[in-house]
Amino acid sequence: MAVKRVLKMGEPLLLARAAEVKAFDTRELQDLLQDMRDTMAAERGAGLAAPQIGVSLRVVIFGFEANERYPDAPAVPYTVLINPRLTPLGTETEEGWEGCLSVPGLRGVVPRYKRLRYEGFDEFGRPIIRSVEDFHARVVQHEVDHLDGILYPTRIVDLRRFGYTEVLFPAAPPGDD
Ligand code: NI
Repeated sequence: MAVKRVLKMGEPLLLARAAEVKAFDTRELQDLLQDMRDTMAAERGAGLAAPQIGVSLRVVIFGFEANERYPDAPAVPYTVLINPRLTPLGTETEEGWEGCLSVPGLRGVVPRYKRLRYEGFDEFGRPIIRSVEDFHARVVQHEVDHLDGILYPTRIVDLRRFGYTEVLFPAAPPGDD
């Protein structure tokens, strides 16, 4: 399959609500996931949502052993999550820096629920239910937001903590973000 172009903020499709996946374990879904994996690897992302490569379906992937874009983040298991539902566990929120392959070159501080449960399906239609916290919870919230047409800059509370990665984090590895 292929590395796809990542849509950037301003493209209407990134603001759309993506459609539920109706059929699992299909060639189309496997092809989409391969494109997503190839694209995420090429861009060194921590996660990717299908709308970011122009496919308006409720499919996200995320996970890494170690991510050079987020060197302090603990490993998150590689996950395919389809038709996800998130349930916050408690009301506690936590602030943290986020970037997005669709908003290249920028970072901002975003409040997210600290703990949540997520439910959904893998590519074979097998159910996934996990309770997670901290960076894992943050990544899931960021990716699932993409399925509802939400980009992280709209969640920034204090816009003074939003800026260029090369300025905010001069030691960060070069790249789109
Ligand atoms: Ni993103």
